Amino acid sequence: MLSWDCMSLVPPYIESLAPYLPGLSIEEVRREFNISRVVKLASNENPMGASPLAIEAIQTHLTDLNRYPNGGVDLRRVLAKQHDVKMENVIVGSGSEGIMSNILRTFLGDDDEVLTSEATFAGFEVLARSRGVAFRTVPQTNWHFDLPGLADAVNERTKIIYLVNPNNPTGTIFTREEFEAFYRHVPERVLIILDEAYFEYAKDNNRYPDSMHYRYDNVITLRTFSKAYGLAGARIGYGFAHEELIRNLMKVKLPFEPSTLAQAAGVGALADREFLYRTLELNSRSIRYLTGALRDMGLTVVPSEANFVMVVLESEAEAAGLVRDLLREGIVLRHLKPFGLPNCVRISTGTDEQNRICIEALQCLIPMTSSR
Ligand SMILES: Cc1ncc(COP(=O)(O)O)c(C=O)c1O
Repeated sequence: MLSWDCMSLVPPYIESLAPYLPGLSIEEVRREFNISRVVKLASNENPMGASPLAIEAIQTHLTDLNRYPNGGVDLRRVLAKQHDVKMENVIVGSGSEGIMSNILRTFLGDDDEVLTSEATFAGFEVLARSRGVAFRTVPQTNWHFDLPGLADAVNERTKIIYLVNPNNPTGTIFTREEFEAFYRHVPERVLIILDEAYFEYAKDNNRYPDSMHYRYDNVITLRTFSKAYGLAGARIGYGFAHEELIRNLMKVKLPFEPSTLAQAAGVGALADREFLYRTLELNSRSIRYLTGALRDMGLTVVPSEANFVMVVLESEAEAAGLVRDLLREGIVLRHLKPFGLPNCVRISTGTDEQNRICIEALQCLIPMTSSR
């Protein structure tokens, strides 16, 4: 036994940190409940699998595995061309969360503060708190980011504002007009992270502000291959920003991130227009079906611009009970307590069959009552 107290090595902000808890994996559910058919609608993954061109690109690069990766230059080049920016404006990394982590390490000083909304992507809070800085949130208005409230909440210590559009887990967007008004009220010394993990699902809505139309010097756009391209397991994401921000981020990023296979998958996926088209087509159909069927059961569903819907229940007990009962049948949904929404449940879109299985199971559990 060691004689010293090893906990003295752990800073208080790490000791008190509540880690991000991902949903149960399909294998875990199979094992725990002894069920063969698992329908996982808990993590906003692509139910169609991965882009076939991405898989092909991974296979082609398997023979390069003895060599170190090149830091992402191939993918940066393709993304720069596609978005008509310089390669110096592009960064790629281990998922958009990997880049988020690098942003916090690069730009925050110990006395800085991070500001965001309540009820948004919980992974960001974990990253910010693990940096030991002050973390502040502003309540939402009717399940939407309160952009005027966020702009008003900026103080002299605020260094980063984190916006998510469409937001996870509410599925709502803020509009061009709302973003432009917000931007005018935020000082230039504040860095705005615009997390567009669900960009592809919202891009055709003409009220949606594609942040690539605003190449503001203090805005970093983050996107991912994890959702619409079906590459959550590859860990590959990307970001756009002013070249001075990217130059400094590149100093902090691990030199061999992303992996060779992750980068190849990203390049392959970008060429796969057909896969993206089919993904978006299935998703629109799924959102319509899930929203309609849930509302027909008398449930409150927040209109979604992403690849999931959020259901608002009467109580935490009802939300937790629903998730638990469905889990026993092999249907995995996300109870949103860790997102600060204990009476809400998120359902990711699945294949047509998975959506139907989920709705039919819910119809058995939820009595049709006019009182709802
Ligand atoms: C809003 C948002 N940002 C980032 C991420 C993480 O994405 P990635 O897989 O690219 O790290 C997620 C994942 O669910 C998300 O919902």
